[in-house]
Amino acid sequence: MEKALRLIGPFRQLLTLDHLPLKGALKDEQLEIINEAGLIIQEEKILAVGKFIALKSTYPQAEVYKLETDFVALPGWVDCHTHICFGGSRARDFAMRNAGKSYLEIAEAGGGIWETVTQTRNLSQNELAEKTTENANRHLSEGVTTIEVKSGYGLNVAEELKMLRAIEEANTRTCADLIPTCLAAHMKPRDFQGTNEEYLEMISKQLFPILKSENLSNRIDSFIEKSAFSPEEIKPYYQKAQKLGFDLTVHADQFSTGGSKVAVQYRAKSADHLEASADHEIELLAKSNTIAVALPGASIGLGVPFTPARKILNRGGALVIATDWNPGSAPMGDLVAQASILATYEKLSTAEVLAGMTYRAAAALNLPDRGVLKSGMLADFNLFSTDNYQEILYQQGKLKPAQVWKNGHKI
Ligand code: NIG
Ligand code: FE
Repeated sequence: MEKALRLIGPFRQLLTLDHLPLKGALKDEQLEIINEAGLIIQEEKILAVGKFIALKSTYPQAEVYKLETDFVALPGWVDCHTHICFGGSRARDFAMRNAGKSYLEIAEAGGGIWETVTQTRNLSQNELAEKTTENANRHLSEGVTTIEVKSGYGLNVAEELKMLRAIEEANTRTCADLIPTCLAAHMKPRDFQGTNEEYLEMISKQLFPILKSENLSNRIDSFIEKSAFSPEEIKPYYQKAQKLGFDLTVHADQFSTGGSKVAVQYRAKSADHLEASADHEIELLAKSNTIAVALPGASIGLGVPFTPARKILNRGGALVIATDWNPGSAPMGDLVAQASILATYEKLSTAEVLAGMTYRAAAALNLPDRGVLKSGMLADFNLFSTDNYQEILYQQGKLKPAQVWKNGHKI
């Protein structure tokens, strides 16, 4: 028997995000916009996209889910960089920064990431899974259907495993897709007796094989920065990860440069942050297959300049926008609000921003099955109550999706 079909629509506008390049600047005129559009869904996937009336006559057997008011349809957002699995709060850091202390000074004084490590270690795996599910569900309600989630607040084998198992558990409790990343190389934990190299060596020897055997994560991240790890310390760590077949990503060039070069050299899927990247780094990234990820939430949170997104795109780089949602530098976690603010400061076109939250973000996570509305893709899409797609960024995050669909189901 043929699997049941559903026809959703008509949408005033449907933006497919199809037929666009992975890299480089984009103009809004390049966006494929179908007016009075519909989607044919079969189970969790899209079977066809086109004019509502044409789809209705081509698929007369489809059950119709008819919309009576104006909607704009877009692919579900992909947030390729978050730290939403954590315990506690860093409200004190916020106050300290505003009183003049820098992020790195606070870290050196024992606050910062280490404070969240302590608070995260204090939670059980189940409590962490609950918090992660709560955060993921809030993100999903705002249209983020795929969410990368990092460990990195455990910082020993048992605690990193607890985090990654909590993320795995949360993935079964939320309808969003959670993509786990191991960030055991966030900083050397204060309770580790040994050098940075020894810590990384221990993690690669003891943790990497378990990640593989338990299928807990296929991605390895690190923080390359003065307060964390140097490029030279991370290189052997990435070599080992690469040998085992992990995808790589890097917290790069946040306060000082060095990380983006390692990202390109090790063919990392993405280099994220890049607030400190200068022309040389931008050029390197633009020439590479490593995707540049801007994290405006961290710039807003720390009061530092934005990632040079305009320059990256103009030089031909692939630019993605993610939230970096974390308790320290980026507690807001509102992707559209942050993308809209970045667009204003960096003069990004709507097409560039939408690409950076959909198919380009999916590419950063190596997920070719989403980010575009076309036949064969997952039926992950958002419906906004408006007749013009430009309203979404213009309203700076205030216009939330009226409907979020994930794997062919309305949430
Ligand atoms: O991406 N920069 C390093 N890591 C996170 C912040 C984590 C934290 O402050 O808790 C980031 O900004
Ligand atoms: Fe981060």
